[in-house]
Amino acid sequence: MRTAIADGAIQQIFTEARTHHSWLQKPVSEDVLKQIYEMAKWGPTSANSNPMRILFVKSKAAKEKLYPALMGSNMTQVAEAPVTAVIAHDEKFYEYLPELFPAFDMKPMFEGNKAFADLTALVNGTLQGAYFMLAARSLGLDVGPMAGFVNAKVDEAFFKGTTWKSNFLCNIGYGDDAKLYPRGPRHDFEVACKIV
Ligand SMILES: Cc1cc2nc3c(=O)[nH]c(=O)nc-3n(C[C@H](O)[C@H](O)[C@H](O)COP(=O)(O)O)c2cc1C
Repeated sequence: MRTAIADGAIQQIFTEARTHHSWLQKPVSEDVLKQIYEMAKWGPTSANSNPMRILFVKSKAAKEKLYPALMGSNMTQVAEAPVTAVIAHDEKFYEYLPELFPAFDMKPMFEGNKAFADLTALVNGTLQGAYFMLAARSLGLDVGPMAGFVNAKVDEAFFKGTTWKSNFLCNIGYGDDAKLYPRGPRHDFEVACKIV
């Protein structure tokens, strides 16, 4: 039997956590990036498909390859952030299913249906991206997800000749609380949910 996690943890991961756009110049080690992934990978995916792939863009040279794809202020955000993760997915995720989901042979179902495979990769890769952000927050880091970029340009710059496709970007580091703007509200339960 599990119990609810502490209020402080819930605040850090959900209710008090902000999306950050400005970053303190405090580095994020490779070890921390590995810890985030090692936590996030346990979140559920359909048929245990694990389609998410992550490219951590850290060096100046790699960031410069990313800049031409970015819209508006996102370039400044990437320049300032210690690390920008390209949350991607592997279009051929199903190649790994015999190992990841030995209970039932699901590979042919995806192999023969590209539309279904692509949707599964996008849905589950996005879910895993969300697990990734919550894992980062639970380790005391801040995140800044971004969709304002041209996916095709990122794919051309980093994933050409591979089966990886970019989904969204996520800056990771220690956010500058002083630069936060007032928080937007969220829908009330009555607006967003129905119980039938
Ligand atoms: C998928 C996704 C894409 C986003 N794209 C951008 C972006 O391109 N640029 C940006 O500055 N913020 C972007 N945001 C940040 C959102 O505006 C922000 O998370 C939202 O307003 C909630 O802010 P809060 O967490 O501080 O309450 C994005 C967020 C998500 C989840």
